[in-house]
Amino acid sequence: MGLQELIWRLMKDQDREEYTELLRTCNIPVQEWRRYAFLGHRQGCSRNLIYEDKDRFALTLCCWDPGYQNEIHDHNDSACYFKILHGIMQETHFQDNERKADKEYGVGDVCHMSRRGGTHQMTNVSKTERAVSLHLYIPPFNTYQVFNQSSPHGEHREATFVSRYGFSMDQENNQLGDF
Ligand SMILES: [Fe+2]
Repeated sequence: MGLQELIWRLMKDQDREEYTELLRTCNIPVQEWRRYAFLGHRQGCSRNLIYEDKDRFALTLCCWDPGYQNEIHDHNDSACYFKILHGIMQETHFQDNERKADKEYGVGDVCHMSRRGGTHQMTNVSKTERAVSLHLYIPPFNTYQVFNQSSPHGEHREATFVSRYGFSMDQENNQLGDF
């Protein structure tokens, strides 16, 4: 199942197990996702919107600079599923601002974080290579919160994209290029 079929299947009603299974069984070659992979000129993680059904789901491609770690964040009560398409990522899970577990994911691995599953932080483990991951959010969200471990209070952030549907939002953004 490639990207087009994955989107068709997501348009039908699914449940949690099926979303995980869908991401696990889809096989999206680099030739299909490359055209969505833009790099923001400022961010260490570039979020690219592949497809969105505003009431139901958003499918996003994230490109991670080598060694980049994002802030501890929630998903504003959306469920999050992700699959690693390139590279190795580490996920650190937090519950009530307390570090709970680190887990490493390689190409093809799928992870799920439930709607009220606490917060997490992602790190591109490689100091030399970019990583790319596919994220499915149910439902989409426009704002989220970031946290630091010294305070239980989050800070609101806008969820922004460097590209939408394969089109860059800024002419200074570069396409990821060849793999
Ligand atoms: Fe996340």
